[in-house]
Amino acid sequence: METTSAPATPGVQTGAAQLIIRDLHANVEGKEILRGVNLTITQGEIHALMGPNGSGKTTLASVIMGHPKYKVTGGEIFFKGYNILELTPDKRARMGLFLAFQYPSSVPGVTVANFLRRAVEARREGFDPAKPAETNGDNQKRKGMPPAEFRKLLSEKMKILKVDQAFVNRYLNEGFSGGEKKRAEILQMAMLEPSMAILDETDSGLDIDALRIVSEGVNALRGPNLGALIITHYQRILNYITPDVVHVMHAGRIIKTGDADFAVELEKRGYEWLIGPEANDEESAG
Ligand SMILES: Nc1ncnc2c1ncn2[C@@H]1O[C@H](COP(=O)(O)OP(=O)(O)OP(=O)(O)O)[C@@H](O)[C@H]1O
Ligand SMILES: [Mg+2]
Repeated sequence: METTSAPATPGVQTGAAQLIIRDLHANVEGKEILRGVNLTITQGEIHALMGPNGSGKTTLASVIMGHPKYKVTGGEIFFKGYNILELTPDKRARMGLFLAFQYPSSVPGVTVANFLRRAVEARREGFDPAKPAETNGDNQKRKGMPPAEFRKLLSEKMKILKVDQAFVNRYLNEGFSGGEKKRAEILQMAMLEPSMAILDETDSGLDIDALRIVSEGVNALRGPNLGALIITHYQRILNYITPDVVHVMHAGRIIKTGDADFAVELEKRGYEWLIGPEANDEESAG
């Protein structure tokens, strides 16, 4: 695609992977959901995204990953200097983007371990938009990963996330409790070592111990190599994973941005004070 052939490099040239979203508009089923989202996340930063139900948080996450159900009608998404809007979700993932779903789906007949193995192999193959397609995995058979190496990596990550062997031998998400699904998502993230991770309400449905373990898992990956967007309704998870930046989304836009203390303020005051009059404007303007 033309859009990916030339490295457009907007913003800062730090060498760190950056996700840059500019004036993004997107529809689902003909309805405009995202109405001009601007957001920049640099590798190494943790951003939290909060906001009322239905404000467009999951839509934004889905559009970043390239879910076909959502139609981008305006704006741009750059990752590592490339416009990724024309890339398939698979290629975006191989570039280092990762999404932990709000509602993970089950894959009967595929064990967690086998799923992770395929995912890690694809991730390791990578994708570089600067390279011609034929050297970029598209027409090549995916190289397998030596079983011993995979087992070692898996057991390392399982230890960090306190996951036991029986868990990874089960079919992915089949009959998993809500919390187990979320834990499987974080295990997947730990295995893939993304440079930019989006966690969509990974904290919802976790018991207190699981929340701590999952947070520790994220913190273990935290560092200059990981950028993250943590979508959440609760300040609670942000006590464990202190965000650098906190955004509030409303009616398809980011309406306010602050620091970690802003999340504490939101927990106390809710959203009404932020969205009251503006929300009415939006409705009457629409
Ligand atoms: N597949 C779809 N079909 C129809 N409407 C959709 C679809 N996906 C999202 N929407 C609508 O888009 C709006 C935004 O939804 P979205 O899931 O992005 O919100 P959210 O901010 O993630 O909410 P929550 O906090 O409840 O998870 C909602 O009004 C929702 O009904
Ligand atoms: Mg959502």
